[in-house]
Amino acid sequence: MMRIICVFFLLLFAIMTVGAKSTISTLCEMKSCESPSILDCSHLNSSVSGRCCVKEKETLSPSTVTGIDLIGCHLTNISRLFHSMGHLVFLYLHKNNISDIDVDDFTGVNELKNLTLPPNLSCPGGHILWDKEINHSDMVECVEEQSTCKVFNVTCPNSNSYCSDVGPRVTECLCSPGYHGYKCLRKDHFPTATFVVGICVSTVVVSAFLWITQRRKVKKH
Ligand SMILES: *[C@@H]1O[C@H](CO)[C@@H](O)[C@H](O)[C@H]1NC(C)=O
Ligand SMILES: *[C@@H]1O[C@H](CO)[C@@H](O)[C@H](O)[C@H]1NC(C)=O
Ligand SMILES: *[C@@H]1O[C@H](CO)[C@@H](O)[C@H](O)[C@H]1NC(C)=O
Ligand SMILES: *[C@@H]1O[C@H](CO)[C@@H](O)[C@H](O)[C@H]1NC(C)=O
Ligand SMILES: *[C@@H]1O[C@H](CO)[C@@H](O)[C@H](O)[C@H]1NC(C)=O
Ligand SMILES: *[C@@H]1O[C@H](CO)[C@@H](O)[C@H](O)[C@H]1NC(C)=O
Ligand SMILES: *[C@@H]1O[C@H](CO)[C@@H](O)[C@H](O)[C@H]1NC(C)=O
Repeated sequence: MMRIICVFFLLLFAIMTVGAKSTISTLCEMKSCESPSILDCSHLNSSVSGRCCVKEKETLSPSTVTGIDLIGCHLTNISRLFHSMGHLVFLYLHKNNISDIDVDDFTGVNELKNLTLPPNLSCPGGHILWDKEINHSDMVECVEEQSTCKVFNVTCPNSNSYCSDVGPRVTECLCSPGYHGYKCLRKDHFPTATFVVGICVSTVVVSAFLWITQRRKVKKH
């Protein structure tokens, strides 16, 4: 029985890995763009892979991409394209007909330093979550994504837990090493306990509130 479950999960993992890989290579080899990409990835210690910068000596995957140039690629919907790109430093999306962006589109993207969008869009999460939001005539430039935990001073229930950024306006409380369970109140001597994640009630409430109030304000008028 155990073996069957194991095989099932391995298969699922394999399918997910292959799926993620093909999506990312489609993205980096986007066919619909008007002009070829001229990228310099060396300042990010990365190498060029089509329209992407990928960490040197790493294989192409969402977590190894450091930059993407999708200028003029006839994009209209960016839903889920950039999920979990935790090391993405720049993302160029101007000269596309994107009418709306959502904080959900940037789940897991926490290290952006330069994001460009078509004009009349707001930086994801609003200008408060960016060091600078600059309106140019042909694009909006979002400079240096800030930590939602810090900007909103999110506190977790107790000293056994800490706030961790998930994406613009979304945070979660994680248990400090050695603690787990409800509100991280259970202490454990096994290091494996650090894997147990406690989503804390207070943050969920805060995030839900922000999600409801801010989600539909992203688009400008
Ligand atoms: C690139 O690598 C050099 C040498 O390993 C290091 O000093 C530098 O901080 C790295 N730059 C980035 C952006 O990671
Ligand atoms: C964008 O694509 C997602 C699924 O890929 C879909 O759920 C959503 O409705 C689309 N949004 C628009 C504005 O077309
Ligand atoms: C952009 O997309 C909207 C619909 O989402 C469409 O009405 C409009 O004509 C498009 N504009 C261009 C320049 O393609
Ligand atoms: C961000 O990228 C755009 C497009 O390449 C560029 O014009 C702009 O100067 C960059 N901004 C910063 C702060 O690097
Ligand atoms: C950019 O333009 C929008 C309106 O489209 C405005 O709400 C916002 O304050 C502007 N940002 C800056 C930094 O001027
Ligand atoms: C952006 O907004 C301004 C004023 O709100 C408008 O004049 C302009 O046409 C808009 N640009 C685009 C590309 O929608
Ligand atoms: C964050 O909240 C704590 C406790 O509520 C408070 O002591 C601290 O001064 C706040 N920091 C900022 C930057 O608002």
